[in-house]
Amino acid sequence: MGYLHLRSSPVSSVLPVLALRGIRKAYPGVVALDGVDLDLCAGEVHVLLGENGAGKSTLMKIISGAVARDAGEIRIDGAPVELADPRQAQALGIGIIYQEFNLVPQLSAAENIFLGREPLRLPGVIDQRRLLRDAQRQLDELGVAIDARAIVSRLSVAEQQMVEVAKALSLHARVLIMDEPTSALTAQEITELFAAIRRLRERGVAIVYISHRMEELFAIGDRVTVLRDGRHVGTRRIQETDMAELVRLMVGRELKDQFPKQRAAVGDEVLRVERLRRDGVLHDISFALRRGEVVGLAGLMGSGRTELARALFGADAIDGGRVFVHGAERRIGSPRAAIDLGLGFLTEDRKQQGLVLVLSVRENICLPSVGRWSRAGLVQTGRETDATARRIAELRIKTPGPEQRVGHLSGGNQQKVVLGKWLCTDADILIFDEPTRGIDVGAKVEIYQLINQLAARGAAILMISSELPEILGLSDRILVMHAGRIAGEFSAAEATQEKLLAAALGRN
Ligand SMILES: Nc1ncnc2c1ncn2[C@@H]1O[C@H](COP(=O)(O)OP(=O)(O)OP(=O)(O)O)[C@@H](O)[C@H]1O
Ligand SMILES: [Mg+2]
Repeated sequence: MGYLHLRSSPVSSVLPVLALRGIRKAYPGVVALDGVDLDLCAGEVHVLLGENGAGKSTLMKIISGAVARDAGEIRIDGAPVELADPRQAQALGIGIIYQEFNLVPQLSAAENIFLGREPLRLPGVIDQRRLLRDAQRQLDELGVAIDARAIVSRLSVAEQQMVEVAKALSLHARVLIMDEPTSALTAQEITELFAAIRRLRERGVAIVYISHRMEELFAIGDRVTVLRDGRHVGTRRIQETDMAELVRLMVGRELKDQFPKQRAAVGDEVLRVERLRRDGVLHDISFALRRGEVVGLAGLMGSGRTELARALFGADAIDGGRVFVHGAERRIGSPRAAIDLGLGFLTEDRKQQGLVLVLSVRENICLPSVGRWSRAGLVQTGRETDATARRIAELRIKTPGPEQRVGHLSGGNQQKVVLGKWLCTDADILIFDEPTRGIDVGAKVEIYQLINQLAARGAAILMISSELPEILGLSDRILVMHAGRIAGEFSAAEATQEKLLAAALGRN
């Protein structure tokens, strides 16, 4: 028992809870996994690292019974197992928390935790008191302040995630997989999640943690395994490696400059916002964007950054203020009107607003341009094909071809398609909301270079990001929002993390 809790014990001497050998999985045109080995030990946080499309999610779907492997062996406590479907994996103690949760929004946290396994008072009659009590205990053990009676749709993303964790624990999960759990969480919520993860580790759960935020793995990981192009390229103890080595393993080369900022010539004003207001959400917002400028928009989650972007793009109505596009006052009543005026908006929520998952890469990339490229209602397929091929190459989108369904791409590659979509338009006022969320370190640099190119081409870019290094590394000018207002404006030269944070917290 004791050795599970001793962090200094050599992990390799412990029989792994779960051992994978030679796991292989191919899809039409892609070898997603090519002979992967992985050992997960009780009481460790095992980070899985790799570029977009490296095979991380596929490997986890195989462990959780959602995807069938083509070859390879899976052992639990040394004994071979099949894992033919999610139920079987669950019964064997494997839980997975997907980024898109599987909760029923209309039900309470308690009902979700015990869905299909509700304690009964009489045959067919649910024991509500026990249901609540047991669910509350699971939540309390995680150290989160969530009322088991709360309806899931009213909980924050972070709370919903905790309900998922509680559910996995109530199923006695010994292996818990978290695939990019922090991508929609605030800094405070991440701290709470990490505290919960540490408690699980103390209890001997083996945790697989996937994230593209490199700093997180040093904060929470015990060991890290790197996948590249579906192959296992190395496993290290966190204390015995560093960022440079991990990046080299991931991308197979050195990454010299994480933020390759190039300054473009700043030209005419393209957008001016005066005293914009959306009652209860945005107050007295004034700023301007000029050609060639990258303006960072910082702020905490909930500060109104996305709301501002949506209002500018005509997705939400405004209650007051004036907007000038290329010098002329405009009322932007809909996204269509915004697009016609040359605005582009890369949304933070690609699944809901950015992409049509059942359509192909080509169709998604060309969607906003269709009006421009069609002649008498006929789409010019040649132009579409050329444009798509160019984006796939430029953004290094990992896909067997332009006709692949976007839903079949890895998460990060879907995000690249969303970017490609706006690169194909002539939009010269671009609003990017968290453009590198879910994007691997190497591809981030490529996206930064594209942003530079867009600026050099004369576009104005408003970039919303929660990653301060990215804001600082890329912006010419930085606006900081707090409680629906612009709480600070800084030039690139004067801005520091501390100043941005102070403004974001409303302290100035
Ligand atoms: N259902 C599917 N059909 C076809 N190809 C698929 C399918 N699922 C995954 N793939 C492909 O398998 C490869 C690995 O994808 P996977 O989602 O495992 O990557 P990942 O490492 O999780 O990437 P990311 O960091 O972007 O989430 C990718 O090339 C992807 O396009
Ligand atoms: Mg993934």
